[in-house]
Amino acid sequence: MKAQYNPMTTLDPEFLVGLRDQFPVLQERVRGRPLVYLDNAATSQKPWSVLRAMQMYYQHDNANIRRGAHKLAERATESYENAREGLRKFINAASTQEIVFTKGCTEAVNLVASSWGRAFLNQGDLVIASHMEHHANLVPWQMICRDRGANFEPIPIHDEGTLDLEGFQTLLERGPKMVAIGHVSNALGTIHPIKEIVAMAHAAGAKVFVDGAQSLAHLEVDVRALDADFYSMSSHKMYGPTGTGALYARQELLESMPPFQYGGEMIRSVSFEETTYNDLPYRFEPGTPNMAGVIGWGAAIEWLSALPREEIRAHEDDLLHYATEQLSTVPGLRIVGTAPQKASIISFIMDGAHPHDIGTILDQQAVAIRTGHHCCMPLMKRLKLPATARASFALYNTREDADALVKALGRVTELFG
Ligand code: ALA
Repeated sequence: MKAQYNPMTTLDPEFLVGLRDQFPVLQERVRGRPLVYLDNAATSQKPWSVLRAMQMYYQHDNANIRRGAHKLAERATESYENAREGLRKFINAASTQEIVFTKGCTEAVNLVASSWGRAFLNQGDLVIASHMEHHANLVPWQMICRDRGANFEPIPIHDEGTLDLEGFQTLLERGPKMVAIGHVSNALGTIHPIKEIVAMAHAAGAKVFVDGAQSLAHLEVDVRALDADFYSMSSHKMYGPTGTGALYARQELLESMPPFQYGGEMIRSVSFEETTYNDLPYRFEPGTPNMAGVIGWGAAIEWLSALPREEIRAHEDDLLHYATEQLSTVPGLRIVGTAPQKASIISFIMDGAHPHDIGTILDQQAVAIRTGHHCCMPLMKRLKLPATARASFALYNTREDADALVKALGRVTELFG
C-alpha cells in the first residue's frame, strides 16, 4: 500500500488530548512506562461515560427487565430498549424488531448458522466463506453444513489480502445459499467492498452474513444501504463493555427462522402439549439478558455518535498511513495485508524473530499488541505463515504511539536482526 498520509487530516491536538482523557485506562503505567495500547482489534478501551452508565444502572436501576411490576424494572427496561433504539439508529436498521441482542458477535453467527441453517440448508447445498474469515464466522457454518449434509468452501483471496472477486463469481455460479464475509478483516485490516459483494451474491440468489465485529468502531455502517441480510456486531470492540453484541437481520428473515435457544421471555404461551413464541426480537432473546452490558453499549453508541465521525475517520486513516510508513523503515519487517482499503489494523512479521518474541519484547517496553493466528488459521495457512504480530489502532491513539511501536521494535532488531 502506498503511504499517503496527510498531516492536515489529523485531529486537533487539544481535542485528541481531551478524547484520551476520557479513557481512564490510558493513564496506566506498565513496568514503569506509560501504556501504549495497540491491541484495539482484540478489545477497545472504555470511556468514562460507558463506565458511569453501567455503574448508574447497578447503583440505581438494577432489576430484571420486562418481568417486574415495579418502578426499577420499568426504568431498567426503558434503558435497555433505548439502547436497542440507539443501535437501530446507529446502523440505520428499519425497525428495532430487526435488532436481536446476543452475548457477542460469535453468538450472533451461531444463532443464524443454527437457526437459519436448520430451516434452509439441505443435503448438497453450498455455503461459502472468505478464506480470511475469523473462526467465529467460519466454524459455525462448517458445523451446520456438516450436520445438514451441505458443502462448505472458501472464497479465494489475493496475497495482498483482498477478495478474489473473479473466484467469488465462479463460486456464485454454483448457487451457494449463504455467503459469509467479514466487513473488516481482524487479521489484515482489509475493508471488503460489502455493497458490491452483497449485490453479486443476491444476483446469484444467495443470502449474505456480514461479520461486523471490526467495522463499527471505524466505519459508518448503514445496513440498509449495504443491503446485507445479516450483520453481526460486538460491543466491546467499539468502546462498549464485553459480553454484549447483536444481530441485525431483515425482518422477514427473522420471521422465517425458528428460535435458536429456548427459555423464559421468548415464548407467548407454554403448556406441556405446546409452546408458541413471542414477537420479534424477543423470540431470539431467551433468559435474563446482559442488562448492564447492553446499557453500557448504549452509552458507547451515544458517545461515539456525538463525535465528529469524518474527522475521526481521517485521524485513523492518518494513523494507518503514518504507522505503515514508519514500520516500513524497520529493517527486516514485512507488512502482511496491503489491500488498498484498510482499517487501522497492521499485521507484520520480522526476519529471524517469531511474532510471539516480538510481542514479548514490545510488552517489556509497555507496548501492547496481539500476536498469533488471530483466530484465522485458514488465512495463516493460505499465507504460509505460522503467525503475525498485529498493531491495531483506535481513535484515541496518536502518531506518538506509532513512534513508540517503531522505537520498541528497534530492540527486536537488536536482539534478532
Ligand atoms: N477477534 C479478536 C481479535 O482479532 C479477539 O483479536
